[in-house]
Amino acid sequence: MIDFYTEAQTLFPFTRDLRRDLHRHPELGFQEVRTAGIVARELSQLGLEVHAGVAKTGVVALLEGAQPGPVVLIRFDMDALPIVEETGAEYASENPGVMHACGHDGHVATGLTVARILAKHRDQLHGTVKFMFQPAEEGEGGALAMIQAGVLDDPQPQAALSLHVWNERPVGWLGVSAGPVMAGADIFHIRVTGKGGHGAVPHLAVDPIACSAQIITALQTVVSRNVAPLQSAVVSLGKVRAGEAFNVIPQTAEMNGTIRTFEPEVRSRVIERMEQVIGGVAGAMGCQAEFRVEEMTAAVINDEKIAQVVASAARKTLPDARLESGFRTMGSEDMSYVLQKVPGCFFFVGSANPEKGLSYNHHHPKFDIDEAALPRAAALMSASVFELLG
Ligand code: NI
Repeated sequence: MIDFYTEAQTLFPFTRDLRRDLHRHPELGFQEVRTAGIVARELSQLGLEVHAGVAKTGVVALLEGAQPGPVVLIRFDMDALPIVEETGAEYASENPGVMHACGHDGHVATGLTVARILAKHRDQLHGTVKFMFQPAEEGEGGALAMIQAGVLDDPQPQAALSLHVWNERPVGWLGVSAGPVMAGADIFHIRVTGKGGHGAVPHLAVDPIACSAQIITALQTVVSRNVAPLQSAVVSLGKVRAGEAFNVIPQTAEMNGTIRTFEPEVRSRVIERMEQVIGGVAGAMGCQAEFRVEEMTAAVINDEKIAQVVASAARKTLPDARLESGFRTMGSEDMSYVLQKVPGCFFFVGSANPEKGLSYNHHHPKFDIDEAALPRAAALMSASVFELLG
């Protein structure tokens, strides 16, 4: 059996230097020109068939094994965030106001390390590895754009894998779970229309503010009374707006908020109950209400069998790891759209090291990872591909 962890550790100087170079030169979503250039050059040098410029800055590459077999897609995101870096690291961002504060620099370095490992063992691969280096994961729809550009066609993958370094857990920890692992996020909009009037004669008006107050209170029961206690959901209002003057009952009131759920059934149930509560309360108060939900990101849902394959690869390749099989987070990720079409597994690789001061959370201006996580990530990704195609 190939010792993937030893191979990844041997490649560590390459992985670390590459990650630090990317960290110095972060690029925002759909602007990852330099990053994508490095990715395309590295993959071409390994003899892969490379397609650059997929959905602007995405890169897709095929590594053909010596034997025919299924296609496994492995995805790494490349974008940075509009944050002013405060790590003080020697490899800190040289692009002011832009920072790799989520660890996607580590993902790109991991992906190219995996490419080196798998290319070296292509004679033992039965099938094809499809590399997907994705732009714009941070809320700008990079995964959907690549799907629209055909990343899941010709050849169609039968399985998909992706990972995230995870600073909420130390190096050595792995989160590999079946089922939902990251929440789906929705934005909702509510508009309550009454009848404006003078504050002194409320009986001649229909007050949308009093109505909204009842709606806000009643919405608190959706999660507490309509979602099963062992299931998870969040309904949060983040914005309430109505009125301009102290003595005027306005015509309308508007509210926005977010819904977070893991299971599609729970999401449907929450939206259905919100619709009933908002419509019912508004009706009782003599108002009219409009309710609209916009999907931001779907939930990340792992396939049970493929999650088992990754967990089995983890036990063989990183026997010292603390493997957690029930980990979930309310955060969201657009790998969800790939996993809606292709069964797969999105797993987490612990990357914090509190003793070295490397435990700030994702998107914090002092976020940084312990790079010891990267060979572990590369080893587990390579081993998982081999479990599927070896
Ligand atoms: Ni991220």
